[in-house]
Amino acid sequence: MNIRCATVEDLINTQHANLMCLPENYQMKYYFYHLLSWPQLSYVAEDHKASRMACGNIVGYVLAKMEEDPEEEPHGHITSLAVKRSYRRLGLAQKLMDQTARAMIETFNARFVSLHVRVSNRAALNLYKNTLKFNVNDVEPKYYADGEDAFAMKRCLLNFA
Ligand code: ACO
Repeated sequence: MNIRCATVEDLINTQHANLMCLPENYQMKYYFYHLLSWPQLSYVAEDHKASRMACGNIVGYVLAKMEEDPEEEPHGHITSLAVKRSYRRLGLAQKLMDQTARAMIETFNARFVSLHVRVSNRAALNLYKNTLKFNVNDVEPKYYADGEDAFAMKRCLLNFA
C-alpha cells in the first residue's frame, strides 16, 4: 500500500471511493477545486495489486483544504476521509490524516485542523478522538442533510511530531 499526494488523474476513483463509503457526496468540480487550490493537501492510498479496471486502485483518500478566514489563525479543514471496507483497520486513515496535517503545517503554517463528523459514526470518532487526539469543539444540530447532528472537532497542530 502506498500513500501519496492526489493528482487530477485520481479524482474519478476518489469520487468512486467516496460514493461507496459515505452519504456526503460532491460534484466533480468540488474535487477539482480542492486539488487546484491546495494541491499539497489531499492524499490517496493505493493498492498496486488491485486492478485499475475494477474501479481503480485507490482504496482510501483524504480531501482537505485551508480555511481562508483572515480573522482566524491559519487552519486546515478535512472535507472528507474514507477507506474502502476491505482495507480498513490497517492504519491507512491515520496515515492519510497525518500526511495532510504535516503538509498543512509545512506549506501553510496551519495551527490546527478541523472537521465535522456524524455523532453516530463510532469508527471515525474513535479514530479522531483516541488515535489522532482531536477534541470536540461544538455540536452542530442538524448539520447533515438527513437531520443528524455533527460534532465539530479540532486537532491542535502546534506540537505535531
Ligand atoms: N471501530 C472502532 N475503532 C475504530 C474503527 C472501528 N470500526 N476503525 C478505526 N478505529 C480507530 C481504532 O482506534 C484504530 O486503531 P486500531 O486499529 O489500532 O484499534 C484507529 O481508529 C486507526 O484506524 P485506521 O486503520 O487508521 O482507520 P481505517 O483506515 O480503518 O479508516 C475510517 C477509518 C476512515 C473511519 C473508515 O472506517 C471509513 O472509511 N469509514 C466510512 C467513511 C467515514 O466514516 N469517514 C469519516 C467521515 S467524517 C469526515 O469525512 C471528515
